[in-house]
Amino acid sequence: MNASRRLKRIHSIADFRAAALRVLPRMVFDYVDGGSGTESTLRENAAAFERVRLVSAAPVDVAKRSLAISLFGREFPLPLIVAPLGLASSFWVKGELALARGAARHGIPWVLSNNASVLFDEAMAAGNGPKWFQLYVPPNREATKTWARMAREAGFEALQITVDTAVPSRRLRDIRRGFSMPFAWTPAKLFDVVTHPDWTRRIGPHGIPRPKLMFHVPWAEPGAVPDMRTRLSPSLDWDLIRWFRDEWKKPLMVKGLADPRQARVALDAGIDAVVISNHGGRQLDGAVATIDILPEFVAEVGGKLPILIDSGFRTGTDVVKALALGATAVQLGRAAAYAVATAGEEGVAHAIGIVKSEIDTAMALCGVTRVADLNPSLVRRRP
Ligand SMILES: Cc1cc2nc3c(=O)[nH]c(=O)nc-3n(C[C@H](O)[C@H](O)[C@H](O)COP(=O)(O)O)c2cc1C
Repeated sequence: MNASRRLKRIHSIADFRAAALRVLPRMVFDYVDGGSGTESTLRENAAAFERVRLVSAAPVDVAKRSLAISLFGREFPLPLIVAPLGLASSFWVKGELALARGAARHGIPWVLSNNASVLFDEAMAAGNGPKWFQLYVPPNREATKTWARMAREAGFEALQITVDTAVPSRRLRDIRRGFSMPFAWTPAKLFDVVTHPDWTRRIGPHGIPRPKLMFHVPWAEPGAVPDMRTRLSPSLDWDLIRWFRDEWKKPLMVKGLADPRQARVALDAGIDAVVISNHGGRQLDGAVATIDILPEFVAEVGGKLPILIDSGFRTGTDVVKALALGATAVQLGRAAAYAVATAGEEGVAHAIGIVKSEIDTAMALCGVTRVADLNPSLVRRRP
């Protein structure tokens, strides 16, 4: 079935997930869908939104509404950002570029992961939307400097440093399916691929997706394969982040904070925004849901530092709950991943459109016409 026919049947991010399950080889779907360890954080991310309930302030005249937000001194049309998604070219041919273009159609930022299969020049040419870059800081200081310089020269508007990956987590679905680098074929993986002909026809001619961007940067040990052990620094700390602050003059964010006390340190270090995240349940198994910890961040730095948030957001009402509790914007991870896997750029644009209309509906029914007017009085916690 072609992409546009597929989209006619898709009315929610849950529909996109079901479509991605059909179209992707199981090993790729599990790479997207899975979490670490027992996947208790993954489950908690979903459960936490059920406990947060909205209160309608109706009757209010909500005939004129705007979903625009202001961040880093400029206006964005929606309180949404497409989160960094490594190896997106395993979901769709040059999936990173499809994500960029889909986000650009709504004028929202897209974050390129440094674990990408496209190079900077291709990324910068994909659509005319705001483009941010996300870095997994490698152990080697020279490589770190090279990344910072290349991202600056490429012209990215903002930088996110991911901090919740001091060590790789154990993602059991990936381990069981052998979805790891360097990639080696087994009969089970071959069967997986041939039983998903849509994906195989599309991706097959391009070969196995590799993190091409990683190979592009001079590496610590020449010839080394940049796998999880060689690309993540277990020594990343505030000293190094302060070094980035000196190097990177544009907006700088720290992604993966879960401890509200770290937000205060971020503020003192001159960071421009924090991204509360548990990596979508892919790192610390048993972590607290981000929507549950958000009020503590607001109490610590609210009003002084923009608070972005991700992990588990699948609907516009999830987004409205976070905005009401004090977040500035929400990053969409899997919502965008399922969409790009289903229908490339069209899928991403359709998914953002769905979440946009859900936000608009929820805001209107809450009796709110501007994102800035969402506030904690609109929220109750189910015991
Ligand atoms: C397939 C996949 C790849 C990801 N790759 C990266 C990455 O390269 N860098 C990063 O900082 N976060 C990465 N993340 C985490 C997302 O940026 C984001 O924090 C997370 O997906 C949010 O949770 P959600 O998927 O429930 O929306 C990845 C997530 C997924 C699902």
